[in-house]
Amino acid sequence: MSDLPDPDVLLDVALMIAREAGELLAKGREGTVAAEATKSSPTDVVTALDRASEALVARRLGELRPGDGLLGEEGSDSAGSTGVRWIVDPLDGTVNFLYNLPNWAVSIAAEVRGEVVAGVVHAPAMGTTYTATRGGGALRDGGPLAGSTVTTLAGALVATGFGYAQARRAAQAAVLLRVAPKVRDIRRMGAASLDLCAAAGGIVDAYYERGLKPWDHAAGGLIAAEAGLRVGGLRGLPASEDLTVAAPPALFGLLTDLLAEDPPADRD
Ligand code: IPD
Ligand code: CA
Ligand code: CA
Repeated sequence: MSDLPDPDVLLDVALMIAREAGELLAKGREGTVAAEATKSSPTDVVTALDRASEALVARRLGELRPGDGLLGEEGSDSAGSTGVRWIVDPLDGTVNFLYNLPNWAVSIAAEVRGEVVAGVVHAPAMGTTYTATRGGGALRDGGPLAGSTVTTLAGALVATGFGYAQARRAAQAAVLLRVAPKVRDIRRMGAASLDLCAAAGGIVDAYYERGLKPWDHAAGGLIAAEAGLRVGGLRGLPASEDLTVAAPPALFGLLTDLLAEDPPADRD
């Protein structure tokens, strides 16, 4: 529809708000940060700053884009009336944030009629911002990004992550036992959005994880796809909670085949 906004316009909004939320988080990080509560399991922590960041994003979107929908990890969920919905992880990598490790980010994606068209992953402590628009390529701090072109598992450095629920983690560890011997090495960096961006920038060759929510992969998935990687799930399905993989096109099938050997018994 012609009255739907241009992805570049949405990207500008996402970028502005991600920087504001990033500043709030970075300032907050200078003080004492404590786990305020736990969510799905005792290991799944939330800080007051996760919530403050989402409140800031929601307030600013309301000002700049009234009527748009919003799905956020800390509870925002409205469909909106404009055809645009924002998908937000107000602080991805909360455990890193808690321990003052730099891999944490604000992740903001804009979806138009169900398709992600713009995304920002802003990592203040790393001094890095990743952006993409659908069809417009992916950028790191304004410079173009290209993913790895590795074609073999043995030549692939593969990032992954673990969920918080005990049963899921145990199943993920079992999968890792099968994957680790076949690949060059494994990395667990602690923020799914940044893992996808690391793949987009060729810092790792590929990434996979089960159990991701839309806010974990919406922006990073677009950035990885726009950097030339294939992003998806099992059996040709889109990236989802079941599985999210980002890999060079020639490696994607090999990696998903290896992961598909796993029985889907790792549900929370
Ligand atoms: C988590 C991180 C982590 C991934 C988990 C996510 P949070 O998000 O992205 O790297 O392995 O699956 O839940 O809780 O830090 O926003
Ligand atoms: Ca997250
Ligand atoms: Ca989060």
